[in-house]
Amino acid sequence: MNQITVPDILKSKNKRKLAMVTAYDYSMARLVDQCDIDIVLVGDSLGMVSLGHEDTLSVGMREMVHHTKAVSRGVKKALVVADMPFLSYQAGVNRAVLNAGRLLKEARAGAVKIEGGTSVTPQVKAMVEAGIPVTGHLGLTPQSIAKFGGFKVQGRGESRGIILSQARELEKAGCFCLVLEAIPPSLAEEITKSINIPTIGIGAGPYCDGQVLVINDLLGMNDDFTPKFVKKYSELSATIRQAVSAYASEVKSGTFPGPEHCYRDD
Ligand code: KIV
Repeated sequence: MNQITVPDILKSKNKRKLAMVTAYDYSMARLVDQCDIDIVLVGDSLGMVSLGHEDTLSVGMREMVHHTKAVSRGVKKALVVADMPFLSYQAGVNRAVLNAGRLLKEARAGAVKIEGGTSVTPQVKAMVEAGIPVTGHLGLTPQSIAKFGGFKVQGRGESRGIILSQARELEKAGCFCLVLEAIPPSLAEEITKSINIPTIGIGAGPYCDGQVLVINDLLGMNDDFTPKFVKKYSELSATIRQAVSAYASEVKSGTFPGPEHCYRDD
């Protein structure tokens, strides 16, 4: 089984749809890698999903390297893409290249992802020149929620044209693929038709070249809030509560462990 490469992702444009999903640890990475997934994203959403922060801003390089190492150990087939966390690339080209390099060299990701348009194209060019494949991310870029005033749909009104031209700039700068988050489907379609690298949508409608979802959302592990664009393919939170409650009740009543779970004397 050959591991999916950056050239494979580029070649998929107009041929087949790409399925991408997040993972943050070894066991989940192993499982999703057995499911015909093309790209496993170690998203900085780990800050919210796994670490309990209210946004992604508190995530740092230390966490991203740690979790990407675990995911890379579990993935044999998909391409592993690691998110660059807030302030690991915005403050300059050198810092961006060194941090991105750590995600490939120490954590063994196959590529990195950064958020933003014109302001990050120098970083994209420098990383690509250093041999680091880069995924772009436009639309609702969660590291900019302070600027947006919250998790809000983007690309309506005058920002539509800006996002379209930023997509072209990111392609020109050398990105090999582009995540489009929370924008109207018609804009995602226009972008997808006007660039030659694959687009991967989340809340961007059906016309992208692929889709990405946060694994905990897809599995129904978050009861608090479900964004409009999420489809729950399971209700794991209920299943987990049921299983753990049954365990707690059996421990307390003394029915677990039974004889079948015990070692013999000899
Ligand atoms: O951090 C993340 O999980 C992401 C995806 C939602 C695209 O950036």
